[in-house]
Amino acid sequence: MKTTVVTLGEMKQRGEKITMLTAYDYSMARLVDESGVECILVGDSLGMVMLGYDHTLAVTMEDMIHHTRAVAKGSKEALVVADMPFMSYQTSVYDAIVNAGRLIKEGNAQAVKLEGGECVCEQIKAITDASIPVMAHIGMTPQSVHSFGGFKVQGRSEACAKRLIKEAKAVEAAGAFAVVIECVPQKIAGEITKELSIPTIGIGAGPLCDGQVLVYQDMLNMYEGHTPKFVKTYANVGNMIKEAIQVYKDETKMGVFPSKEHTYE
Ligand code: KIV
Repeated sequence: MKTTVVTLGEMKQRGEKITMLTAYDYSMARLVDESGVECILVGDSLGMVMLGYDHTLAVTMEDMIHHTRAVAKGSKEALVVADMPFMSYQTSVYDAIVNAGRLIKEGNAQAVKLEGGECVCEQIKAITDASIPVMAHIGMTPQSVHSFGGFKVQGRSEACAKRLIKEAKAVEAAGAFAVVIECVPQKIAGEITKELSIPTIGIGAGPLCDGQVLVYQDMLNMYEGHTPKFVKTYANVGNMIKEAIQVYKDETKMGVFPSKEHTYE
């Protein structure tokens, strides 16, 4: 059964934790989908983990549509949420609707995600009014890396914590069906989770959120960059890949591969 935005709301009501993981291509989407994760995020983190950029700002609508289409093909049951890239919705409400529409029509996503609180509420309302479900994203929003002065934990001061709670309520009132809370102290994430009727999905926001999201390259140790404190390594897939490739290389150089078994007579 396909997971929908309604399913996620019902899971919150039942107190059942929601799982979300990124995927950026068909093969990985199939693996994530077949693992039973409810929600696949085609994150603009693809700029870093797939394209090798230092941040997400250079990701384009074409990049997002290209990867979302592949993920949607590989996802039978998981809800596919596509990130709106930097400057695809900040520029105007009109741009926001047009670009959200492209991710649905051309990418085959079932929902879009955008970063920000009160400053993007007009966009959230307009996109949901166009019947496109919106996941909001508050806290450490990577598209604001230059304003934050780096990828830093948010909400540590009393004033910043209050602002985060206000932002969460604002995105819910604007029509968001869920909200990602990134890199904030667990107490604030817990308070937001209690206050909102929509699900909260945490990343670096502690265990009190309604669900969790991770970038798959982080949890599988496939990305050489900085690993944040909130990432748990579930498998050393990066090392497994390297070891397998080294064996292939050595066997080829020694003439062990291809053997009779792998050769046509
Ligand atoms: O782009 C992304 O992968 C994200 C997650 C970190 C939530 O926005």
